[in-house]
Amino acid sequence: MAQSKPLASTPLMGWNSWNSYGHTIDEAAIRKTADAIVSSGLKDCGYEYVVIDDCWSQKSGRDSNGDLVPHPDRFPNGIKPLADHVHDLGLKIGIYSDAADRTCGGHPGSYEFEEQDAQLWASWGIDFLKYDYCNAPEDQASAIERYTRMGQALKETEREFLFSLCEWGNRSPHLWGSQAGGHMWRVSGDVFDSWIGVLVAEYNWWGVGIDMSIDIAAELSPYGGPGGWNDLDMLVVGLKGRGKIPGSGMAFVEYQTHMSVWSMACSPLMIGCDVTELDKETATLLMNREVLAVNQDPLGRPARRVKQLAGCDVWTKPLADGSQAVALINRNSTRRDVVVKAGDVGLLDEPKLVRDLWAQEDVGDFAQEFTKTIQAHQTVLLKISCS
Ligand code: GLA
Repeated sequence: MAQSKPLASTPLMGWNSWNSYGHTIDEAAIRKTADAIVSSGLKDCGYEYVVIDDCWSQKSGRDSNGDLVPHPDRFPNGIKPLADHVHDLGLKIGIYSDAADRTCGGHPGSYEFEEQDAQLWASWGIDFLKYDYCNAPEDQASAIERYTRMGQALKETEREFLFSLCEWGNRSPHLWGSQAGGHMWRVSGDVFDSWIGVLVAEYNWWGVGIDMSIDIAAELSPYGGPGGWNDLDMLVVGLKGRGKIPGSGMAFVEYQTHMSVWSMACSPLMIGCDVTELDKETATLLMNREVLAVNQDPLGRPARRVKQLAGCDVWTKPLADGSQAVALINRNSTRRDVVVKAGDVGLLDEPKLVRDLWAQEDVGDFAQEFTKTIQAHQTVLLKISCS
């Protein structure tokens, strides 16, 4: 019998409802999304988990047994038949809750109901839990305690659960997420559909733009690896300003930088756009197998920033086959020529074969240095191997 891969041995790939549906998620949306993940070819590229985010449950509260109740209008058939449908497609299904008495959207949370909720989700066939931290105490000890309680409750079910922590990086979950039972942990606030941060005036709160995620990922590069990953948040690729989250959309090259950084940083790749209407540009970004291979490389080593020069970043990531992935990120608002020396990427004197992963073409040999012109906010992703 073929051995299945250990859980989260590579960063998780899938789709999450929040960016496109927000509070309005329903059964039909999940069904058509799961179908489209198969028919579009996303499943063949490795996207596997279909996650129902916040607002799937009855807002008024639990039933008389204390069980969570699927929202009667939006999930009238409950979650089990939906889970069966997703499994029949060869995909996995995820759900959402919160380590307090209410979720961010005001639905019942799971604090002090951990075992009961974990057992209920297991009985529905759920494979994944995203566990949020709205309405919970600020301090780190409480967060560790609350996540550990749920991690334990999930382990005590007879199902294998992938456990996704979402306390936005405020309490350094990269230091304790694995011990709490987590397989991935958010390292920032919500990423919006924008290159720079966006102010949500109502809460006087800044959403994260891609340019800020670049620094967050660079700082956390010593952490994360097989079994437990730094989660830079769901992808905004393809939203183009039409999502349920703030941000007016980005240029193609900015989405390409977003995808490149998430791939180099070994972040989970959870699509956020509507995959039932995938346009060609978005498909190109989400389904470039050579780029995805960097994210899914079995060595699982997040990229390091090795150089910052004139507003450009150079990142390197060692790959299992002995080659290096190199990202040249132009964060300026104008075009730049970036020079990479072999020494910057830990390679010394032999001639090296350079492949451009977005273009999927070999771009030559480089013995000592390599120069590339990069558009504003664009990332060039290279694979450098010994020839
Ligand atoms: C928080 C999380 C988001 C999403 C919403 C749901 O903001 O960070 O990813 O789950 O809650 O309310």
